[in-house]
Amino acid sequence: MLGAIYGLPEQMEEAVRLMEHTGAKFDASLVQTIVVTGLGGSAVGGDMLRTYAGDKCPVPILVNRSYTLPSYVGKDTLVIAVSYSGNTEETLSAYADAKARGAQIVAVTSGGILKKQAWEDGHAVITVPGGLQPRAAAGYLFIPQLMLLQQAGLLPEGHAEIEETVRLLREMRKLLAPASPTEQNLAKQTALRLYGKIPLIHGAVGLTEVIAYRWKTQINENAQTPAFAHCYPELNHNEIVGFDVPQELIEKLEIITLTCSRNHPRVQKRIEITAGEVLAAASCGQTELAALGESDLAQMFSLLYLGDYASAYLAALYGLDPTPVEKIEYLKRRLA
Ligand code: F6R
Repeated sequence: MLGAIYGLPEQMEEAVRLMEHTGAKFDASLVQTIVVTGLGGSAVGGDMLRTYAGDKCPVPILVNRSYTLPSYVGKDTLVIAVSYSGNTEETLSAYADAKARGAQIVAVTSGGILKKQAWEDGHAVITVPGGLQPRAAAGYLFIPQLMLLQQAGLLPEGHAEIEETVRLLREMRKLLAPASPTEQNLAKQTALRLYGKIPLIHGAVGLTEVIAYRWKTQINENAQTPAFAHCYPELNHNEIVGFDVPQELIEKLEIITLTCSRNHPRVQKRIEITAGEVLAAASCGQTELAALGESDLAQMFSLLYLGDYASAYLAALYGLDPTPVEKIEYLKRRLA
């Protein structure tokens, strides 16, 4: 897992090369809505696309994690069906639903049934390299979706942003990789703070909400630990009330707040008051971690990268192998 995390910048570059030569196209002039359908590690790229594109794309982007698609999906919808393995039953079912409704479809996969079916049906397929855990293939699964919309003119050209992101991640990993000692390594320091605790990851609407959720799922899957995520400003209207119960319970929590320079100024104010005043008296730890980089893409990926490393180090602290996800595999077998 640590090797796959280290390789994220190269993965992104490889995905760019793949998209420069892709034949996958769709008719953007027909598209009124975009729905990305996928689960788990294959849905996160869709989440990132949705939040990244929120203020850039002329049509709404939604992420679907269900067996069926919302009722508005039809001929004027682009459905991007993402399954790294190509064998996830919910995604295959949503793909069949998209096909039945005459939607334009692009499949993003490393193979499996999805690839075979999409080829046979004459839909566009973007085949990404296999052999990784889906959650470790974030570069392979996100960049093709981003570039697909850029190439179709639904998002502004963004080569410079991708290049900045790749450069930043290469810089970051000098300090985050296993060879970097704890005193310099923010990911190892974060893992130590989370060790023996239940992580509560806070993001904010916009760029960090989905990254907070990514941290939660990476801690669940890599460190095999319960973890929860919530976001500003919504958490100001419920979660902050829940810190008055017995101290023994609150002490088990560790709050990580992810911030970025794109936060709405009122959201930033809310974070300051919540962390500095409202939760300051609570008997749990609190840390704020700020995104690095200039562009939206670099800021999102900088926090994602830190979380990926921190979750793998947390697994090491618990003496666990971060790669296998036996319970997910068991469930898939039981349902087969
Ligand atoms: C495992 C992982 C899972 C899978 C999910 C769907 O590493 O990340 O969350 O992504 O079970 O499988 P795929 O991605 O193959 O469609």
